[in-house]
Amino acid sequence: MAKLGVNIDHVATVRQARRGVEPDPVHAAVLAELAGADGITIHLREDRRHIQDRDLRILRETVRTSLNLEMACSDEIIAIALEVRPDMVTLVPEKREELTTEGGLDVRLNRDKVADAVRRLRDGGIFVSLFIDPDLDQVKESSKVRADAVEIHTGGYADAATYEVSHSQYEKIFESCKLAHKLKMVVNAGHGLNYHNVRQIARIPEIYELNIGHSIVSRAVLVGMERAVREMKGLVS
Ligand code: PXP
Repeated sequence: MAKLGVNIDHVATVRQARRGVEPDPVHAAVLAELAGADGITIHLREDRRHIQDRDLRILRETVRTSLNLEMACSDEIIAIALEVRPDMVTLVPEKREELTTEGGLDVRLNRDKVADAVRRLRDGGIFVSLFIDPDLDQVKESSKVRADAVEIHTGGYADAATYEVSHSQYEKIFESCKLAHKLKMVVNAGHGLNYHNVRQIARIPEIYELNIGHSIVSRAVLVGMERAVREMKGLVS
């Protein structure tokens, strides 16, 4: 049964729309955990467009499940992670102009940089995951740089406009999960998952945790955080 990691970045997006204090992602994390979330995920971007340093520090104190920090392989953010020590770091590519994380990390192209970040974070006692496209070469490269886990990008599956594309994306995700598991990495998945498309992915037996943000926060605006998380948890499990 897959676990549910709730990404609360977009609670902070609403707050930053007014550069104010509400809604507070710390409150959202408490409600998500009360409703059954198995983990809380935040992305501290270099441009600080949603999550702020203060959120990370308070959540480190208050999250009772598991805190997953998404971040780029940047020296500044690595130093913050080593100081705050989330339970897990997920390394992601980051471009300033993108609306959200677009593709997976190209571990092959950036092998030295990624390997160095993985080593520094693991030496600091942090469990390290790499967000990668559903691509067997990227899975193998992730194992070579000694990642503890991979998070398989499900965006191509979620955004597929036709059955054929959806099917072929699903196959890639399925095979990537199998290989990552065989290579003894923990297998997570996420991006673009919602109340309609999550079940098929949640059925993949190798998946340990799904990370879901936008669809849960969108539903929470209408029905409340606890109900939105409880409904997603029901689908995932
Ligand atoms: N996983 C990673 C690595 C991400 O960058 C994001 C988006 O922040 C998610 C999962 C969640 O994606 P979504 O908000 O589409 O559920």
